[in-house]
Amino acid sequence: MKTLLTIGLFTSLIFAVSLRGQNNLNEITILFDNYVHNPDTKSGWGFSCLVSFNGSKVLFDAGGDEIVFASNVTCLEIDISDINSVVFSHEHGDHIAGLNYILASNDNLKIYVLASFSTKFEDRVKEKNGELIRVKSPLELYKGIFLTGEMGDQIKEQSMILDTDKGLVIITGCSHPGIVNILKKAKEMLNKNIHMVLGGFHLSQHSPDAVKEIIQQFKYLGVEQCGATHCTGEKQIGMFRDFFGKNFIELGTGKKITF
Ligand SMILES: [Fe+2]
Ligand SMILES: [Fe+2]
Repeated sequence: MKTLLTIGLFTSLIFAVSLRGQNNLNEITILFDNYVHNPDTKSGWGFSCLVSFNGSKVLFDAGGDEIVFASNVTCLEIDISDINSVVFSHEHGDHIAGLNYILASNDNLKIYVLASFSTKFEDRVKEKNGELIRVKSPLELYKGIFLTGEMGDQIKEQSMILDTDKGLVIITGCSHPGIVNILKKAKEMLNKNIHMVLGGFHLSQHSPDAVKEIIQQFKYLGVEQCGATHCTGEKQIGMFRDFFGKNFIELGTGKKITF
C-alpha cells in the first residue's frame, strides 16, 4: 500500500513538472500561411501564428479565410480562450479574417492594432466586447514580447520582437515598411543580435538583384536564421533558402518552432 502511494505521488509529481514545462514552452505555431507544413492543416493566402513566450500567449494576425483559420485552430488543438492578447500587424484582409472567430471564442481579449486602423474594425471588436488598444510607438506587451509600433509611410504595419536567450526573434506580417527597415528597427530598440526572422517579406515584385541586395543586408545585420514565407514570393523564398541553407526554416501551416 505504502509502495503504491509512493508510486502515485511520484507519478503526480512527474505529471505536474511536465505540465509546468509545457506551459513555459517558448514556441511559435504557424496557424495560417500560403504553404502547408502539417498535411492535416490547410493553406490559404495570409498569415497567422500563435506565440507562446515567457508564459504569455499572443496571437499574431488571423489569416485570410475564417473557415480555414478555424479549421487549422481546431486541427492543431489550439485553445483560443487561453490566449492573452491578439496583435494585428496591419489591416489587410489576409491578416484579419479570423477576427470574428477569435472574438466568439474568447470573452476577455485585448486586441492590439495600429493607431491608424479604421473605426469599422474598432466597431467590430467593440460589438463583441473585445478591448481595442491602438499602438503608435514601440512597446513591451508582456515580458520579452515587444511591438515595433507603427512603421511605414504608405502601408503602415507593426512587427513583433521576442527577446530570447539566443537573440531577437522577429515576426512580420507582410513587411510593407520594408523587411530591412524592420530588422534595423528591432536592433535599434533592443540592441541585440537577430537570431531569427520569420513571416511575409513582400518581395514578389522584387528583381533577383534587389533580393540579393536585401540578403546582403540580412548578412550585414547578422541574421542567423530565416523563415521567409507568405507574400515573400516563390522564387524570392528560394533565394533565401539557398543563402541560409540549414538555417532556413521551412514554414507552412502547422509548423512549430521552439527556442
Ligand atoms: Fe499579407
Ligand atoms: Fe499586406
